Amino acid sequence: MAILKMARMGHPVLRQAAKRVEDPTAPEIQRLVRDMIETMDDADGTGLAAPQVHVPLRVVVFYVARDRQNEEEEEGQGGLEVPLTVLVNPELEPLTEEQSLGPEACLSLPGLAGQVPRFTRVRYSGVTPLGEPIEREAEGFHARVVQHEFDHLDGFLYPQRMSDLATLTFTSEIGRGVE
Ligand code: NI
Repeated sequence: MAILKMARMGHPVLRQAAKRVEDPTAPEIQRLVRDMIETMDDADGTGLAAPQVHVPLRVVVFYVARDRQNEEEEEGQGGLEVPLTVLVNPELEPLTEEQSLGPEACLSLPGLAGQVPRFTRVRYSGVTPLGEPIEREAEGFHARVVQHEFDHLDGFLYPQRMSDLATLTFTSEIGRGVE
């Protein structure tokens, strides 16, 4: 197990499309995933994509705690926790054209946060490193996390999805009044 070095905005690995994994059950993928989970936990992150640790492969890990999901749940699931999930070669399909604005941060842009529009309901799928298929529907913060992480696999960071860059903020400045 190892904590991996984080790529930050501007590094070319974050701007390229990541490659499909030929064998999701390969030992090197299992090792990568273990290290990604340790790295995400150490950084107190919600999700992590392999390009963020300088590995240009289509692998993501994420975990949505119940209280986070409640923050962006308008109706429906009532804030279900999403267990630690590992997806290799994931796919995503919006289930609505409706988008909502919500705050996002990213371990590759430390100290920053911004308001990002995302589809409110999506379906996603992928395989685990054990070769098991996963298919889920997601809404609220869960849907947001998945769209954020999958975007990393196509070379997009959340500021590229923002509709108003004026909301890009250092988190240490949030709550400061006008002076
Ligand atoms: Ni990110």
